[in-house]
Parts: sequence; C-alpha cells; structure tokens
Amino acid sequence: MRALSRVGEPVRWLASRARPRRGMGSSAAAGGRRDPGENPKVGRLRELFTGDAADGWEKSWEFGVTPWDLGKPTPVIEHLVRSGTLPKGRALVPGCGMGYDVVALACPERFVVGLDVSDLAIKKAKQWSSSLPNADYFTFLAEDFFKWIPSEQFDLIFDYTFFCALDPSLRVAWAETVNRLLKPDGELLTLIYLISDQEGGPPYNNTVADYQKVLEPLGFRAVLMEDNELAIKPRKGCEKLGRWKRCAHQSSL
Ligand SMILES: C[S@@+](CC[C@H](N)C(=O)[O-])C[C@H]1O[C@@H](n2cnc3c(N)ncnc32)[C@H](O)[C@@H]1O
Repeated sequence: MRALSRVGEPVRWLASRARPRRGMGSSAAAGGRRDPGENPKVGRLRELFTGDAADGWEKSWEFGVTPWDLGKPTPVIEHLVRSGTLPKGRALVPGCGMGYDVVALACPERFVVGLDVSDLAIKKAKQWSSSLPNADYFTFLAEDFFKWIPSEQFDLIFDYTFFCALDPSLRVAWAETVNRLLKPDGELLTLIYLISDQEGGPPYNNTVADYQKVLEPLGFRAVLMEDNELAIKPRKGCEKLGRWKRCAHQSSL
C-alpha cells in the first residue's frame, strides 16, 4: 500500500519506535516490553474465553476484568473532535465498552451509536452517561456488530481496541461489516493498537498490514496513517491512527 499522511503526501512511518509487545493493559511502564499474559488482568481475561466469545466478554464485564478500560476518552479522539475534521452526521463505535469515546464524539451535529455485545457493558455505559449535557446526541445498544442491521448507514465508524479484540478469523467479516454499515463516502477511523509476539488473545497480534489485507479488497485506502502522538503513556509508540476512505473506481474507458 502507499498510505498517505495527507492525501498526496507520503506517510511518516516512525519505524524506530519501541517494538510493541503489550496488550490491553493501561498500567505498564512507558517503553516497557512485556507479554500481556504477564499482566494478571489480561491473563485472567483470557481464562474467561473458554467457549463462546460473547459469553467471555459478558463475563469480563461481570467480573470487572476490563484491562483495556482507560476510564476516559482516548486523547486523540478529543483532539480530533476539537479539530473539526471528523465527519458530522451519524457515527458508530463498535465494541464501545464504557463508551467514553461515544460521549466525546457526540454533539448536535453528530449523533453517535455505541454498540457492544455485552448487556452489562451497555448498562454501565448508560448508567454513567445518561444525564450528561450531550445525552441527546448518543445512544447505546446491546447488539452483535456482525449481526446488527441499522435503519441507516453511518458517516463515521471509529474502531479502537475492537479489531484487536476479535479472533483473527473474524477480520474479513469485520471489514465486510464496516463496508456494509458505512455510507459510500463515509470514513473509517481506526486507532490501531499494535500488538505482536503473542500466542492467542484477546488481544490478538495485529499490524497495519492486517487492516490493509481485509480493507483494501473492498476499496478502502488509508488517506492518513501516522503514529498516535497523543497515545496514553503506556501505549506510546504502540498506536497508529488510520483514516480510511473508499476510493471511487477509476474507469480506464
Ligand atoms: C477490548 S474491549 C474495548 C472497549 C472500548 N473500545 C475501549 O477502548 O474501552 C472490546 C469490546 O468489544 C465488545 N465486543 C466483542 N465482540 C463484539 C461484537 N461481536 N459486537 C459488539 N461488541 C463486541 C466487548 O464486549 C468489549 O466491550
């Protein structure tokens, strides 16, 4: 792929950054390298995934084993909202968890749907957010991303620690579902949490190439792919921000 940092400019790949080996935990020391399995909470999370994945997620919420949870929106989302460069209209956050990013994205010009397969996650998200001043501009639904059929498509889909949480066998279906749910001129925003050198998951190993592999055959191209300089300290050097659009088919006739 020739990913672009802005349309027409080469990507600024900072390949020399620390090689990421961390999982969803948000308490590792900056620059440290360790297998997420060494994080007791990630180890415990994996133990909950013995059968059906939806059941595993529900249990993780039930037992409070949510090592990915930042307790606040990811800073780059707040930055992008302030920048005014994100599509308005309808936005979707699949695998939203507590929904901090849902709330951060919601405003009179942008209605946001937070989706999570866990009933309990959605209950918790509603509990903390229902009386916020912008509560009219978001909603939370307990639905399976792969099966849900909305009444309308979306102008923006934001994925953060959802792709890497899914079994890799679901990645093609993830891309097809994004393709189905996004308007033709809509934008897919991926905050890619790079993880490597692990066996199993969640979270699972993933690279930018893994996203390209499933998105590009559907016509998506990264119009921006850059290091997330605003990553929280334990994830610094491990996150890339990707903004994807579908390219109009160029006929040679
Ligand atoms: C690693 S957590 C990330 C939560 C949130 N994005 C965050 O950064 O805090 C993954 C979330 O995806 C949800 N999830 C997993 N499979 C799903 C599916 N098929 N449809 C919707 N949500 C799903 C889980 O319940 C869990 O809350």
